[in-house]
Amino acid sequence: MKTIKIGVLGLGTVGSGVVRLLQDNAQKITDITGCELKVKTVVVRDVTAPRNVDLTGIELTDDFNKVLLDDEIQIVVEVMGTIETARTYIKQLLAKHKHVVTANKDLIALHGPELSALAKENHCDLFYEASVAGGIPILRTIVNSFAADQVESVLGIVNGTTNFILTQMTQNGLSYAQALQLAQEKGFAEADPTNDVAGKDAAYKMIILTQFAFGKDLTLTDVKLEGIENVAVEDIKEAANLGYTIKLLGIADLKNDKLDVSVGPVLIPAKNPLAAIQNENNAVLVTGKAVGETMFYGSGAGELPTANSVLSDIIAVTKDIVMETTGNRFNSYSNNVALAPASE
Ligand code: NAP
Ligand code: HSE
Repeated sequence: MKTIKIGVLGLGTVGSGVVRLLQDNAQKITDITGCELKVKTVVVRDVTAPRNVDLTGIELTDDFNKVLLDDEIQIVVEVMGTIETARTYIKQLLAKHKHVVTANKDLIALHGPELSALAKENHCDLFYEASVAGGIPILRTIVNSFAADQVESVLGIVNGTTNFILTQMTQNGLSYAQALQLAQEKGFAEADPTNDVAGKDAAYKMIILTQFAFGKDLTLTDVKLEGIENVAVEDIKEAANLGYTIKLLGIADLKNDKLDVSVGPVLIPAKNPLAAIQNENNAVLVTGKAVGETMFYGSGAGELPTANSVLSDIIAVTKDIVMETTGNRFNSYSNNVALAPASE
């Protein structure tokens, strides 16, 4: 059986979840892909910091070259965050023909087209399902299931931290600061939560969704942006008295060939399904000309939901490696490696 070696950059909330899920579901993944997936090396900043995952048989290092220069490592998972360091590392990895999976929405929103072009040039996969809406498989759904439709709008709650804060302020009477601290403790917030509360994290995700839904590359300045920093408990109470809930919404709307993209707090009628989305959960509504309105709901942040999206990308890469090396293709519904070569 083929063993595929994986390098992981970052062992925080998401990185720990990736290592844990790969260990916990090893047999199932092998049954599906026909391969054994093994994390060989994990790169962190501080190798002496305590870790809450089993690192038996895994090398923990602060030296990126241990992944970059290791020819055995075929897939690298970037879950360390940062923009410039991650960009430099991923460019080097792709140049070495390593497949890359990342959860880094900041990087992909700002440099996705450049990195995707580099991946294509080097015949590598670059996948980033976890970069948008955590555990909701929204990117692959838009690519696969809306391929023959024309998307008219994509909107929803795409930041878990702000939805968690607004929920806690509304239902549990927490102050903004208390709710933010709790979101950080639970691993929902970014290392620097400024981007979460200022709406920038949601804007990055809307930029990526816009690429997938409309094929347009936007920059941050194209997105009308407002965060939740100025939403007070009194605003929430007054909204509730009037039958509304305040939610941070991302909206991308295509009308008469004009694309409007915005992120900001919106008053949602209490009966609207989006008003019921609580805590770190996200919901994305995709409206297609043919299919009409569809809604995708799930956990938008946190260790295991996000890691599950990363794993879905790792498995997709693995299937590509198997197809390339054996010519066998996968029957995606039975999840088994097909015996017939791809050419048949
Ligand atoms: P985190 O908990 O802060 O962990 C970051 C990890 O990266 C740490 O292990 C850190 O090492 C390591 N690291 C940071 N800079 C590094 C560098 N220059 N070289 C080597 N290692 C470095 O972050 P996270 O919450 O897991 O998020 C990781 C990425 O996933 C981010 O891009 C984030 O936007 C994205 N994401 C997060 C979530 C979520 O729910 N948390 C959901 C979706 C996407 P040390 O441990 O030694 O400090
Ligand atoms: N900080 C992000 C959020 C993590 O709260 O939505 C998931 O991308």
